[in-house]
Amino acid sequence: MIDKIEKILADIKTFQAENKEALEQFRIDYLSKKGVMTGLFSDFKQVPPELRKEMGMLLNDLKNTIQEVIEEQQKKFLTTTESKKDLDLSLPVHAMNGSRHPLSIVRNEINDIFKRLGFVVAEGPEIEDDFHVFSALNFPPDHPARDMQDTFFVTKSPDVVLRTHTSSVQVRVMEQGKLPIRIIAPGRVFRNEAISARAHCIFHQIEGLYIDKNVSFADLKQTLYHFVQEYFGEGTKVRFRPSYFPFTETSAEMDISCNICGGEGCNICKHTGWVEILGCGICDPNILKACNIDPEEYTGFAFGMGIERIAMLKYQINDLRMFFENDLRFLKQFENA
Ligand code: DAH
Repeated sequence: MIDKIEKILADIKTFQAENKEALEQFRIDYLSKKGVMTGLFSDFKQVPPELRKEMGMLLNDLKNTIQEVIEEQQKKFLTTTESKKDLDLSLPVHAMNGSRHPLSIVRNEINDIFKRLGFVVAEGPEIEDDFHVFSALNFPPDHPARDMQDTFFVTKSPDVVLRTHTSSVQVRVMEQGKLPIRIIAPGRVFRNEAISARAHCIFHQIEGLYIDKNVSFADLKQTLYHFVQEYFGEGTKVRFRPSYFPFTETSAEMDISCNICGGEGCNICKHTGWVEILGCGICDPNILKACNIDPEEYTGFAFGMGIERIAMLKYQINDLRMFFENDLRFLKQFENA
């Protein structure tokens, strides 16, 4: 039996598998139920008792050696992803270079406030059709926003545009037909505007939409009031001015007391003590109908704000172009924000 073991040891030490299949065959030959090792273990029963201890150890060593040979050779055939499977990608990074962009910081902070109120984040495409950006939102056919002067068109008839507002995500979510709805939709929007300190052709908005039974203007006011206290600090005042949007009725714009002069009057608030931060209103029954929601049963509110505008007020930035220039002297100021 010792001779047999030594012969096997010599064989396996020189074994080189040419491929995965050959290696598997090797495993079957030696370690399967009908393999060489099983045969040896049954021979072992005839070994006289005084030799058993020594033979037992030899057999176990042999089995371990075979296993080692298999494991060693398996490495040759692992694909890159398999061989990296021991990497723990969730481990924290030791040193992080760079920092978040101020617009991302502001977006995340706003998202967090609304998430705590039970809103979930929704998304929609930046390249949209006329229906989702305009028609479903009750824009009349001759509305100026439908003009190429104001909107970037990808194709004309059928009209495909770069979305001019995140209100299109309202339609995308309502279409899914799951009620109630409580979403916020942050994202990039595009308008055909000349670039200046106060305007840009690309900017960011956050849309909010809440649809359920018995949603009222009081719910809208309370939600936005809560947001303002959380984001701009307790004691910040809010006021609502009547306004017009095709997709809301009643519509309003919301101002907050100027967080720079505290309402005393300064350049930022043009000496009024108030700054406008968003548009909002009760969803027009027409848009609910366009998305197959029964306006007799459900009501809702919506709001939309510009992230750049909120960031400018929060950090007292007076030129919108700063956000897009990637000037490190600007970005580095937000490293610890
Ligand atoms: N979509 C509007 C804009 O881009 C902002 C807005 C106003 C969104 C009122 C709303 C809303 O949801 O109710 O100017």
